[in-house]
Amino acid sequence: MAETVDLDVLVDQARTAAAAAGTTEEIREVAASVTGKKSPLAQAGRRLGSLEPGERKELGRALHEARATVEALIEARRTDIAAAELAREMADSRIDLTEFIPGLAAAPAARGHLNLVSRTQASLEDVFVGMGFEVAEGPEIETDWYNFGALNIPPAHPARGMWDTFYLDLGAPESTLLRTHTSPVQIHLMEQAVAHDLLPLHAVMPGRCYRRDTPDARHLPVFHQIEGLVVDRGITFADLAGTIEVFTSAYFGPDIHSRLRPAYFPFTEPSAEFEVTCTICLGSGCQTCSQTGWIELGGCGMVDPAVFTAVGIDPDQWSGFAFGFGIDRCAQMRHQIADMRILTDNDLRFLRQF
Ligand code: DAH
Repeated sequence: MAETVDLDVLVDQARTAAAAAGTTEEIREVAASVTGKKSPLAQAGRRLGSLEPGERKELGRALHEARATVEALIEARRTDIAAAELAREMADSRIDLTEFIPGLAAAPAARGHLNLVSRTQASLEDVFVGMGFEVAEGPEIETDWYNFGALNIPPAHPARGMWDTFYLDLGAPESTLLRTHTSPVQIHLMEQAVAHDLLPLHAVMPGRCYRRDTPDARHLPVFHQIEGLVVDRGITFADLAGTIEVFTSAYFGPDIHSRLRPAYFPFTEPSAEFEVTCTICLGSGCQTCSQTGWIELGGCGMVDPAVFTAVGIDPDQWSGFAFGFGIDRCAQMRHQIADMRILTDNDLRFLRQF
């Protein structure tokens, strides 16, 4: 069976030649030389006619198999080469447009970081989430009802004077305005809780607020508050005081404590202002705290039954407390920032410190 040995050699040679081919042109030449008219395979085929029928059949099958093997390996190599050529062509024709942006290659853009106010908001949220509160948000444009009415501040009530309001559309058919505090988010939240049977509620609501205030060291006309609301059964003023104290020490550190002083807010009864140990003098008295040792952070109180009634919660079954304070003010106190206006100045010498 000398032919069989030859065929194995032929197949091996074809395999080596195909592997060595690197271009479409080269693989075409390999194909012609191993399967073309002048190839040893074709020549062997032409000799079949002169053989005995038995031998002819056997050699014919061997030739057929060898040809199929060779064609398959050439085809496989052809596919690989075509894919590689296409990939090379695509890589060669690729244009990196960033090369044409002036200065980019020389000075890659530096990554910035979140503004101190955003970071303060995130760490306040962290403290409250750790205490079991959820975080919720509401719209910055409110109707008169959400910002005032539902919070027990009817039209023309003198309490509206506590907020210097930016009206967008005063009067008709219902006034819209930039919210003056985050307290209206309490209303949205309680309405949803009633609609979807989600009571009890324990949530904080951070966000941007607006007032017609002249900027000074402690006021910005665009500022941030975080609101808190708990609605549950049997909630007392002690729960409020305890929550405020735990928050104060968790956020400002173990040396800083809280105290509540009687105050008035239309949507809580009783209401209080909450103050924390002055972070500058740690309570001994200094200029910043007017020698009192305390700094006011926000307001709080027990949710007024009129507010519960406005959103359809039965004040005989549910009770709760609320609080609200300035996020910018927290950042100011925690980092001892003399003038709050620097928070919006975009001064890198300040921003890079945090
Ligand atoms: N919304 C009040 C303000 O902007 C702060 C406040 C006081 C919020 C008492 C409350 C609260 O939730 O119970 O001045």
